[in-house]
Amino acid sequence: MKPLWGIVFYDVHSLVNEKVRIFDTTLRDGEQTPGVSLTTDEKIQIARQLDKLGVNVIEAGFPVSSKGEFDSVRQIARSGLQAQVCGLSRIVKKDAQACLDADVDLVHVFSPTSDIQIAHTIKMSHDEIVEGAMRTVELVKDNGRTCLFSAMDATRTSPEFLHRIFKAVEEVHCDIINIPDTVGVAVPSSFYRLVKDICDDVHMVVDVHCHNDFGLAVANSLAAVEAGAREVQVCVNGLGERAGNANLAEVVMGLHSIYNAKTSIKTEYLVETARMIERLTKVKIPITAPIVGENAFSHESGIHSHGIIENSKTFEPGIMTPEMVGHKRRIVLGKHTGKHAVAKVLEEAGYRPSNEQLQEILERIKELGDKGKQVGNIDLQTIADVVIGDVAK
Ligand code: KIV
Ligand code: ZN
Repeated sequence: MKPLWGIVFYDVHSLVNEKVRIFDTTLRDGEQTPGVSLTTDEKIQIARQLDKLGVNVIEAGFPVSSKGEFDSVRQIARSGLQAQVCGLSRIVKKDAQACLDADVDLVHVFSPTSDIQIAHTIKMSHDEIVEGAMRTVELVKDNGRTCLFSAMDATRTSPEFLHRIFKAVEEVHCDIINIPDTVGVAVPSSFYRLVKDICDDVHMVVDVHCHNDFGLAVANSLAAVEAGAREVQVCVNGLGERAGNANLAEVVMGLHSIYNAKTSIKTEYLVETARMIERLTKVKIPITAPIVGENAFSHESGIHSHGIIENSKTFEPGIMTPEMVGHKRRIVLGKHTGKHAVAKVLEEAGYRPSNEQLQEILERIKELGDKGKQVGNIDLQTIADVVIGDVAK
């Protein structure tokens, strides 16, 4: 009889080696994180790091919004990066013109398309929105730039209007369309169906932009790729409005390690990039954050550490290693620690304790752990020196 359980890796061979473009919006949506504000110098540093990381697109900002924003987008656009530099524009000529004047390679034109956002923000008719979108896309294309069109709040927009507006921008040679889940209300199954229907309906690259209000931004982005999207918008450390956007490291490693899809990201720079953004934005990475968090490859409990020491695949995914993402595996000593972990850490520090000494050291570590303390390298050295004595080293 076939067992009901088994290995649950996703088994979609159609995605093997499929290329997915990574559109980074840390400098635009990410900078909209409440409390985050970056100087032009900091934005340029971040743009260079994103380029080193290998993203395909850097959304550098919203040039029409202020002189400072215009200048920083223009400086990034002129700094000779490999990545395409993108500016944001409403369906308004002066916005698109500001992007063109800032020398961006790609203009991201957007308009609200859901009834609720239309009624309370732009207050235009469907006809006026379609007309505005077409004229703005035309202006961008006439100036020889790549054009991306976003139907903001697509997941709460009527399918008829979505179809109409995407077909309209396709008619004027828009290159890429984006399906934003602006308030994060999609779930992977519903988003998969929506993205699939749109992919079947148009002949442009399909991009997605998922917000994380229910913690589903990464899952929805991956479902969108399963459905045919070939570009994903992300932010480093999942920054962005409210609960943020899909997290770059999580989307990329999901694509690489679970789906065997390809991106241009040099994954060994993921941790370095995350830490730079943490430092410049002052938004802390939680210790439990997947991939880049301090604990992402840390092990404390006796059973886990023992397994890891024998074979790291016992208590790590295996398809993703710390080296792949520029991280380090750590055995943390505390009250859950077992003998194997202590022996291994001591061996690495140059100690060769006897069995009795090892037992004594373990007991002292657990005593400290019970008092709520973690045992760092210096503590361990002190304990080992007392128990073994310097001469035994
Ligand atoms: O969340 C959103 O819909 C946006 C658009 C500008 C794409 O940020
Ligand atoms: Zn957004």
